[in-house]
Amino acid sequence: MPASHHRARQSALPAPARAAQAAYTRHLATGAHTRRGMSLHVAWAAGRANLIGEHTDYNLGWVLPVALDRVIALVGAPSPEPVAHLYSVHHRRAISFALTAEALTDDAQQAILPYWARYVRGVWRELLALDALPPLDYAAGFSAAIAGDVPVGGGLSSSAALEVAAATFAQALGAPALPPLMVAQLCQRAEQQSVGVRVGIMDPAASCLGRAGHAILLDCRSLVYEYVPVNLPDLALAVYDTRVPHSLASTGYNERRSQCEQAVALLAPSLQRETPRREIASLRDITTDDLARHGATLPDVLLRRARHVVSENARTLAAVEALRAGDGATFGALLYASHASLRDDYAVSCPELDAVVEIARETPGVLGARMMGAGFGGNALALIQRQALPAFERRLAAEYPQRAGREGVLRVCHIGGAPQFARIAQR
Ligand code: GLA
Repeated sequence: MPASHHRARQSALPAPARAAQAAYTRHLATGAHTRRGMSLHVAWAAGRANLIGEHTDYNLGWVLPVALDRVIALVGAPSPEPVAHLYSVHHRRAISFALTAEALTDDAQQAILPYWARYVRGVWRELLALDALPPLDYAAGFSAAIAGDVPVGGGLSSSAALEVAAATFAQALGAPALPPLMVAQLCQRAEQQSVGVRVGIMDPAASCLGRAGHAILLDCRSLVYEYVPVNLPDLALAVYDTRVPHSLASTGYNERRSQCEQAVALLAPSLQRETPRREIASLRDITTDDLARHGATLPDVLLRRARHVVSENARTLAAVEALRAGDGATFGALLYASHASLRDDYAVSCPELDAVVEIARETPGVLGARMMGAGFGGNALALIQRQALPAFERRLAAEYPQRAGREGVLRVCHIGGAPQFARIAQR
Protein backbone atom coordinates (compact mmCIF):
# COMPACT_ATOMS: atom_id res chain seq x y z
CA MET A 1 0.00 0.00 0.00
CA PRO A 2 1.49 3.39 -0.92
CA ALA A 3 1.51 6.24 1.54
CA SER A 4 -2.01 7.54 1.77
CA HIS A 5 -3.21 11.06 2.26
CA HIS A 6 -6.19 12.00 4.35
CA ARG A 7 -7.34 14.48 6.90
CA ALA A 8 -6.68 12.64 10.11
CA ARG A 9 -8.95 12.47 13.09
CA GLN A 10 -6.91 12.91 16.25
CA SER A 11 -7.91 9.43 17.37
CA ALA A 12 -6.57 7.94 14.13
CA LEU A 13 -3.09 9.30 14.74
CA PRO A 14 -0.44 7.06 16.26
CA ALA A 15 0.75 8.25 19.67
CA PRO A 16 4.10 9.56 18.31
CA ALA A 17 2.23 11.84 15.89
CA ARG A 18 0.35 13.38 18.80
CA ALA A 19 3.61 13.75 20.73
CA ALA A 20 5.27 15.39 17.71
CA GLN A 21 2.29 17.73 17.32
CA ALA A 22 2.56 18.81 20.94
CA ALA A 23 6.32 19.33 20.53
CA TYR A 24 5.74 21.31 17.35
CA THR A 25 3.33 23.64 19.12
CA ARG A 26 5.73 24.07 21.98
CA HIS A 27 9.07 24.39 20.24
CA LEU A 28 8.51 25.43 16.63
CA ALA A 29 5.10 27.00 16.06
CA THR A 30 6.11 30.32 17.53
CA GLY A 31 9.10 30.73 15.24
CA ALA A 32 8.99 33.41 12.54
CA HIS A 33 9.29 30.62 9.96
CA THR A 34 5.79 29.32 10.65
CA ARG A 35 2.69 31.10 9.45
CA ARG A 36 -0.05 31.09 12.04
CA GLY A 37 -3.36 29.40 11.39
CA MET A 38 -2.05 26.90 8.85
CA SER A 39 -2.98 23.30 9.22
CA LEU A 40 -0.07 20.98 9.88
CA HIS A 41 1.29 18.08 7.92
CA VAL A 42 1.96 14.78 9.63
CA ALA A 43 3.78 11.73 8.27
CA TRP A 44 4.85 8.51 9.93
CA ALA A 45 6.65 5.29 9.11
CA ALA A 46 7.34 2.07 10.98
CA GLY A 47 10.38 0.38 12.45
CA ARG A 48 10.88 -3.29 11.62
CA ALA A 49 11.61 -6.71 13.03
CA ASN A 50 13.29 -9.22 10.76
CA LEU A 51 11.88 -12.73 11.16
CA ILE A 52 14.81 -14.35 9.37
CA GLY A 53 17.32 -13.63 6.60
CA GLU A 54 20.07 -11.80 8.47
CA HIS A 55 23.06 -10.30 6.68
CA THR A 56 21.63 -11.63 3.45
CA ASP A 57 20.30 -8.37 1.96
CA TYR A 58 23.64 -6.96 0.81
CA ASN A 59 24.53 -10.42 -0.49
CA LEU A 60 21.48 -10.08 -2.77
CA GLY A 61 19.62 -12.91 -1.05
CA TRP A 62 16.25 -13.06 0.70
CA VAL A 63 14.93 -11.35 3.83
CA LEU A 64 11.65 -11.80 5.71
CA PRO A 65 10.94 -8.68 7.78
CA VAL A 66 7.72 -7.29 9.22
CA ALA A 67 6.95 -3.61 9.78
CA LEU A 68 6.10 -2.96 13.43
CA ASP A 69 3.23 -0.91 14.79
CA ARG A 70 5.89 1.34 16.29
CA VAL A 71 6.58 4.44 14.25
CA ILE A 72 8.55 7.65 13.92
CA ALA A 73 6.37 10.67 13.10
CA LEU A 74 7.11 14.14 11.78
CA VAL A 75 4.64 16.96 12.31
CA GLY A 76 5.26 20.35 10.77
CA ALA A 77 4.63 23.00 8.18
CA PRO A 78 6.25 24.39 5.04
CA SER A 79 8.25 27.61 5.11
CA PRO A 80 9.30 29.96 2.34
CA GLU A 81 13.00 30.06 3.13
CA PRO A 82 15.14 27.01 2.23
CA VAL A 83 15.94 25.95 5.78
CA ALA A 84 14.88 22.92 7.84
CA HIS A 85 14.07 23.63 11.47
CA LEU A 86 13.82 20.35 13.36
CA TYR A 87 13.03 19.48 16.94
CA SER A 88 13.65 15.95 18.24
CA VAL A 89 11.54 14.90 21.21
CA HIS A 90 13.87 11.99 21.96
CA HIS A 91 17.04 14.08 21.92
CA ARG A 92 15.30 17.22 23.27
CA ARG A 93 17.17 19.26 20.78
CA ALA A 94 16.46 21.75 18.00
CA ILE A 95 18.64 21.83 14.88
CA SER A 96 18.49 23.91 11.73
CA PHE A 97 20.25 23.37 8.41
CA ALA A 98 20.14 24.89 4.95
CA LEU A 99 18.28 23.14 2.14
CA THR A 100 19.66 24.88 -0.94
CA ALA A 101 21.17 22.57 -3.56
CA GLU A 102 24.57 24.00 -2.74
CA ALA A 103 24.20 23.35 0.99
CA LEU A 104 22.76 19.85 0.61
CA THR A 105 25.66 18.70 -1.54
CA ASP A 106 28.29 20.12 0.80
CA ASP A 107 29.48 17.23 3.01
CA ALA A 108 31.07 19.59 5.52
CA GLN A 109 27.59 20.76 6.47
CA GLN A 110 26.57 17.19 7.27
CA ALA A 111 29.57 16.46 9.48
CA ILE A 112 28.51 18.96 12.15
CA LEU A 113 25.02 17.47 12.56
CA PRO A 114 23.90 14.69 14.93
CA TYR A 115 22.87 11.48 13.17
CA TRP A 116 19.12 12.02 13.50
CA ALA A 117 19.35 15.33 11.65
CA ARG A 118 21.68 13.81 9.06
CA TYR A 119 19.04 11.22 8.21
CA VAL A 120 16.45 13.89 7.40
CA ARG A 121 18.99 15.99 5.52
CA GLY A 122 20.20 12.90 3.65
CA VAL A 123 16.65 12.16 2.49
CA TRP A 124 16.28 15.74 1.21
CA ARG A 125 19.63 15.43 -0.59
CA GLU A 126 18.50 12.22 -2.29
CA LEU A 127 15.16 13.77 -3.24
CA LEU A 128 17.08 16.70 -4.74
CA ALA A 129 19.19 14.27 -6.79
CA LEU A 130 15.99 12.66 -8.09
CA ASP A 131 14.43 16.05 -8.77
CA ALA A 132 11.63 14.97 -6.44
CA LEU A 133 11.59 17.73 -3.80
CA PRO A 134 8.39 19.48 -2.72
CA PRO A 135 7.54 22.50 -4.93
CA LEU A 136 9.78 25.42 -3.94
CA ASP A 137 6.94 27.94 -4.04
CA TYR A 138 5.13 25.96 -1.32
CA ALA A 139 7.90 24.36 0.71
CA ALA A 140 11.39 25.64 -0.02
CA GLY A 141 11.92 24.75 3.60
CA PHE A 142 9.98 23.38 6.53
CA SER A 143 9.83 23.07 10.27
CA ALA A 144 9.01 19.75 11.88
CA ALA A 145 9.02 18.07 15.26
CA ILE A 146 10.02 14.40 15.41
CA ALA A 147 8.78 11.82 17.91
CA GLY A 148 8.69 8.06 17.91
CA ASP A 149 8.08 4.88 19.84
CA VAL A 150 10.66 2.83 17.97
CA PRO A 151 13.43 2.46 20.57
CA VAL A 152 16.43 4.46 19.36
CA GLY A 153 19.59 2.45 18.79
CA GLY A 154 17.83 -0.79 19.73
CA GLY A 155 18.07 -2.60 16.42
CA LEU A 156 14.44 -2.04 15.36
CA SER A 157 15.52 0.35 12.63
CA SER A 158 14.57 3.66 14.13
CA SER A 159 16.85 5.32 11.58
CA ALA A 160 15.12 3.73 8.58
CA ALA A 161 11.76 4.63 10.13
CA LEU A 162 12.91 8.26 10.44
CA GLU A 163 14.20 8.31 6.86
CA VAL A 164 11.04 6.81 5.41
CA ALA A 165 8.94 9.16 7.57
CA ALA A 166 10.98 12.12 6.26
CA ALA A 167 10.47 10.99 2.65
CA THR A 168 6.74 10.62 3.37
CA PHE A 169 6.70 14.06 4.97
CA ALA A 170 8.20 15.43 1.73
CA GLN A 171 5.28 13.87 -0.09
CA ALA A 172 2.91 15.51 2.38
CA LEU A 173 4.54 18.84 1.39
CA GLY A 174 3.76 18.17 -2.25
CA ALA A 175 6.75 16.14 -3.48
CA PRO A 176 5.85 13.64 -6.21
CA ALA A 177 4.76 10.18 -5.02
CA LEU A 178 7.51 7.64 -5.70
CA PRO A 179 7.13 3.86 -5.84
CA PRO A 180 7.77 2.35 -2.37
CA LEU A 181 10.98 0.57 -3.32
CA MET A 182 12.36 3.73 -4.90
CA VAL A 183 11.74 5.42 -1.56
CA ALA A 184 13.47 2.50 0.17
CA GLN A 185 16.49 2.82 -2.10
CA LEU A 186 16.82 6.55 -1.60
CA CYS A 187 16.55 6.06 2.17
CA GLN A 188 19.21 3.34 1.97
CA ARG A 189 21.54 5.81 0.20
CA ALA A 190 20.70 8.49 2.77
CA GLU A 191 21.61 6.08 5.59
CA GLN A 192 24.82 4.90 3.92
CA GLN A 193 25.95 8.46 3.39
CA SER A 194 24.90 9.67 6.85
CA VAL A 195 26.59 6.91 8.84
CA GLY A 196 29.32 5.74 6.44
CA VAL A 197 28.08 2.13 6.64
CA ARG A 198 27.17 0.15 3.53
CA VAL A 199 23.78 -1.01 4.82
CA GLY A 200 21.46 -3.12 2.69
CA ILE A 201 17.92 -2.36 1.62
CA MET A 202 16.03 -4.44 4.18
CA ASP A 203 15.21 -1.85 6.84
CA PRO A 204 13.74 0.92 4.66
CA ALA A 205 12.08 -1.69 2.41
CA ALA A 206 10.30 -3.21 5.42
CA SER A 207 9.16 0.24 6.51
CA CYS A 208 7.96 1.20 3.00
CA LEU A 209 6.19 -2.09 2.25
CA GLY A 210 4.66 -2.93 5.64
CA ARG A 211 1.27 -4.61 5.68
CA ALA A 212 -0.63 -5.52 8.84
CA GLY A 213 -0.65 -9.24 9.52
CA HIS A 214 1.98 -10.00 6.89
CA ALA A 215 5.71 -10.56 6.57
CA ILE A 216 7.49 -9.35 3.44
CA LEU A 217 9.57 -11.87 1.52
CA LEU A 218 11.93 -9.64 -0.45
CA ASP A 219 14.35 -10.90 -3.04
CA CYS A 220 17.13 -8.35 -2.62
CA ARG A 221 18.50 -8.98 -6.11
CA SER A 222 15.38 -8.59 -8.24
CA LEU A 223 13.56 -6.51 -5.59
CA VAL A 224 10.50 -8.66 -6.26
CA TYR A 225 8.53 -9.13 -3.05
CA GLU A 226 5.52 -11.02 -1.86
CA TYR A 227 3.43 -10.81 1.27
CA VAL A 228 3.35 -13.89 3.46
CA PRO A 229 0.48 -14.00 5.97
CA VAL A 230 1.68 -14.44 9.55
CA ASN A 231 -1.08 -16.67 10.76
CA LEU A 232 0.08 -18.31 13.98
CA PRO A 233 -2.92 -17.74 16.24
CA ASP A 234 -1.53 -19.32 19.41
CA LEU A 235 1.93 -17.88 19.00
CA ALA A 236 3.41 -14.47 19.70
CA LEU A 237 6.48 -12.77 18.33
CA ALA A 238 8.43 -10.83 20.89
CA VAL A 239 11.67 -8.91 20.91
CA TYR A 240 13.93 -8.71 23.91
CA ASP A 241 16.03 -5.57 24.08
CA THR A 242 19.40 -6.55 25.55
CA ARG A 243 20.04 -2.85 26.27
CA VAL A 244 23.48 -3.33 24.77
CA PRO A 245 23.62 -0.28 22.55
CA HIS A 246 24.44 -1.24 19.04
CA SER A 247 25.94 1.15 16.59
CA LEU A 248 26.32 0.01 13.02
CA ALA A 249 29.60 1.84 12.71
CA SER A 250 31.19 -0.32 15.40
CA THR A 251 29.74 -3.69 14.48
CA GLY A 252 32.26 -4.66 11.87
CA TYR A 253 29.40 -4.38 9.39
CA ASN A 254 31.51 -3.06 6.52
CA GLU A 255 34.14 -5.69 7.33
CA ARG A 256 31.58 -8.52 7.07
CA ARG A 257 30.35 -7.11 3.81
CA SER A 258 33.81 -7.00 2.26
CA GLN A 259 34.60 -10.50 3.56
CA CYS A 260 31.55 -11.74 1.64
CA GLU A 261 32.80 -9.99 -1.49
CA GLN A 262 36.24 -11.56 -1.06
CA ALA A 263 34.70 -15.02 -0.70
CA VAL A 264 32.78 -14.53 -3.96
CA ALA A 265 35.91 -13.32 -5.78
CA LEU A 266 37.85 -16.39 -4.58
CA LEU A 267 35.13 -18.94 -5.33
CA ALA A 268 33.99 -17.65 -8.73
CA PRO A 269 36.99 -18.87 -10.79
CA SER A 270 36.72 -22.51 -9.59
CA LEU A 271 32.95 -22.56 -10.07
CA GLN A 272 33.30 -21.06 -13.52
CA ARG A 273 35.95 -23.63 -14.45
CA GLU A 274 33.32 -26.28 -13.71
CA THR A 275 30.53 -24.41 -15.50
CA PRO A 276 31.81 -21.84 -17.98
CA ARG A 277 29.77 -18.62 -18.15
CA ARG A 278 27.98 -19.41 -14.89
CA GLU A 279 27.18 -16.08 -13.31
CA ILE A 280 28.60 -15.64 -9.81
CA ALA A 281 28.00 -12.06 -8.79
CA SER A 282 27.28 -12.52 -5.08
CA LEU A 283 26.91 -15.18 -2.40
CA ARG A 284 23.30 -15.44 -3.58
CA ASP A 285 24.66 -17.34 -6.59
CA ILE A 286 26.47 -19.94 -4.45
CA THR A 287 24.85 -23.10 -3.10
CA THR A 288 25.56 -25.38 -0.17
CA ASP A 289 26.87 -27.96 -2.67
CA ASP A 290 29.25 -25.41 -4.19
CA LEU A 291 30.65 -24.72 -0.74
CA ALA A 292 30.98 -28.43 -0.02
CA ARG A 293 33.08 -28.86 -3.16
CA HIS A 294 35.17 -25.67 -3.06
CA GLY A 295 34.84 -24.17 0.41
CA ALA A 296 38.13 -25.70 1.55
CA THR A 297 40.00 -23.41 -0.86
CA LEU A 298 38.88 -20.40 1.17
CA PRO A 299 40.64 -19.04 4.25
CA ASP A 300 38.67 -20.35 7.25
CA VAL A 301 37.15 -17.01 8.20
CA LEU A 302 35.82 -16.43 4.67
CA LEU A 303 34.41 -19.96 4.52
CA ARG A 304 32.52 -19.33 7.74
CA ARG A 305 31.13 -16.01 6.51
CA ALA A 306 30.02 -17.60 3.22
CA ARG A 307 28.52 -20.60 5.00
CA HIS A 308 26.34 -18.33 7.10
CA VAL A 309 24.97 -16.41 4.13
CA VAL A 310 24.38 -19.47 1.94
CA SER A 311 22.66 -21.41 4.72
CA GLU A 312 20.67 -18.36 5.89
CA ASN A 313 19.21 -17.92 2.41
CA ALA A 314 18.07 -21.56 2.48
CA ARG A 315 16.64 -21.12 6.00
CA THR A 316 14.72 -18.02 4.93
CA LEU A 317 12.98 -19.85 2.10
CA ALA A 318 12.29 -22.80 4.39
CA ALA A 319 10.84 -20.42 6.99
CA VAL A 320 8.41 -19.04 4.40
CA GLU A 321 7.19 -22.57 3.72
CA ALA A 322 6.81 -23.21 7.45
CA LEU A 323 4.88 -19.95 7.87
CA ARG A 324 2.58 -20.82 4.99
CA ALA A 325 1.95 -24.23 6.55
CA GLY A 326 1.30 -22.68 9.98
CA ASP A 327 4.17 -24.82 11.28
CA GLY A 328 5.49 -22.89 14.26
CA ALA A 329 7.76 -25.70 15.44
CA THR A 330 9.74 -25.77 12.19
CA PHE A 331 9.77 -21.99 12.02
CA GLY A 332 11.15 -21.84 15.56
CA ALA A 333 13.84 -24.43 14.86
CA LEU A 334 14.99 -22.31 11.92
CA LEU A 335 15.30 -19.30 14.24
CA TYR A 336 17.59 -21.24 16.58
CA ALA A 337 19.64 -22.47 13.61
CA SER A 338 19.93 -18.91 12.30
CA HIS A 339 21.23 -17.77 15.70
CA ALA A 340 23.86 -20.50 15.84
CA SER A 341 25.05 -19.55 12.37
CA LEU A 342 25.17 -15.82 13.18
CA ARG A 343 27.04 -16.57 16.40
CA ASP A 344 29.51 -19.20 15.20
CA ASP A 345 30.04 -18.52 11.51
CA TYR A 346 29.21 -14.87 11.05
CA ALA A 347 30.47 -13.85 14.51
CA VAL A 348 28.05 -10.98 14.99
CA SER A 349 26.39 -12.03 18.25
CA CYS A 350 27.51 -11.05 21.76
CA PRO A 351 27.26 -12.73 25.18
CA GLU A 352 24.07 -10.83 26.08
CA LEU A 353 22.24 -11.91 22.91
CA ASP A 354 23.47 -15.47 23.43
CA ALA A 355 22.15 -15.35 27.00
CA VAL A 356 18.66 -14.39 25.81
CA VAL A 357 18.63 -17.22 23.27
CA GLU A 358 19.83 -19.69 25.93
CA ILE A 359 17.13 -18.56 28.36
CA ALA A 360 14.61 -18.98 25.53
CA ARG A 361 15.81 -22.54 24.94
CA GLU A 362 15.39 -23.35 28.61
CA THR A 363 11.83 -21.97 28.74
CA PRO A 364 8.99 -24.37 27.88
CA GLY A 365 6.71 -22.88 25.25
CA VAL A 366 9.41 -20.88 23.45
CA LEU A 367 9.68 -22.36 19.95
CA GLY A 368 12.68 -20.42 18.70
CA ALA A 369 14.86 -17.36 19.20
CA ARG A 370 17.73 -15.57 17.59
CA MET A 371 19.63 -12.32 17.50
CA MET A 372 18.11 -9.88 15.07
CA GLY A 373 19.52 -7.12 12.87
CA ALA A 374 23.16 -6.21 12.45
CA GLY A 375 24.15 -7.78 15.79
CA PHE A 376 26.55 -7.05 18.67
CA GLY A 377 23.65 -5.82 20.77
CA GLY A 378 20.13 -4.60 20.14
CA ASN A 379 17.26 -7.08 20.14
CA ALA A 380 16.73 -10.81 20.08
CA LEU A 381 13.56 -12.16 18.48
CA ALA A 382 11.56 -15.02 19.98
CA LEU A 383 8.58 -17.08 18.86
CA ILE A 384 6.51 -18.12 21.88
CA GLN A 385 3.26 -19.84 22.72
CA ARG A 386 1.05 -17.03 23.97
CA GLN A 387 0.32 -18.75 27.24
CA ALA A 388 4.07 -19.06 27.93
CA LEU A 389 4.70 -15.31 27.59
CA PRO A 390 4.36 -14.47 31.31
CA ALA A 391 6.71 -17.33 32.29
CA PHE A 392 9.26 -16.24 29.67
CA GLU A 393 9.07 -12.68 30.90
CA ARG A 394 9.58 -13.78 34.53
CA ARG A 395 12.50 -15.97 33.59
CA LEU A 396 14.18 -13.21 31.61
CA ALA A 397 13.64 -10.78 34.48
CA ALA A 398 15.25 -13.23 36.89
CA GLU A 399 18.09 -14.57 34.77
CA TYR A 400 19.10 -12.01 32.16
CA PRO A 401 20.45 -9.44 34.65
CA GLN A 402 22.50 -12.18 36.35
CA ARG A 403 24.01 -13.39 33.11
CA ALA A 404 24.36 -10.04 31.37
CA GLY A 405 24.93 -7.62 34.24
CA ARG A 406 22.13 -5.32 33.03
CA GLU A 407 18.36 -5.19 32.70
CA GLY A 408 16.61 -5.82 29.42
CA VAL A 409 13.04 -5.37 28.26
CA LEU A 410 10.60 -7.74 26.54
CA ARG A 411 8.14 -6.31 24.01
CA VAL A 412 5.47 -8.26 22.15
CA CYS A 413 5.54 -7.38 18.42
CA HIS A 414 2.48 -6.25 16.54
CA ILE A 415 2.79 -6.04 12.81
CA GLY A 416 2.17 -2.57 11.42
CA GLY A 417 1.44 -1.09 8.03
CA ALA A 418 2.81 1.22 5.34
CA PRO A 419 3.83 4.87 5.80
CA GLN A 420 1.06 7.43 5.88
CA PHE A 421 0.64 11.18 5.76
CA ALA A 422 -2.21 13.49 6.56
CA ARG A 423 -3.17 17.03 7.44
CA ILE A 424 -4.14 17.95 10.97
CA ALA A 425 -5.61 21.09 12.47
CA GLN A 426 -3.06 23.15 14.39
CA ARG A 427 -3.82 23.26 18.06
C1 GLA B 1 21.23 -3.83 9.49
C2 GLA B 1 21.24 -3.28 8.07
C3 GLA B 1 20.42 -4.17 7.13
C4 GLA B 1 20.83 -5.64 7.27
C5 GLA B 1 20.91 -6.06 8.73
C6 GLA B 1 21.48 -7.44 8.89
O1 GLA B 1 19.93 -3.75 10.02
O2 GLA B 1 20.72 -1.97 8.04
O3 GLA B 1 20.56 -3.72 5.80
O4 GLA B 1 22.03 -5.89 6.59
O5 GLA B 1 21.69 -5.17 9.50
O6 GLA B 1 20.62 -8.37 8.31
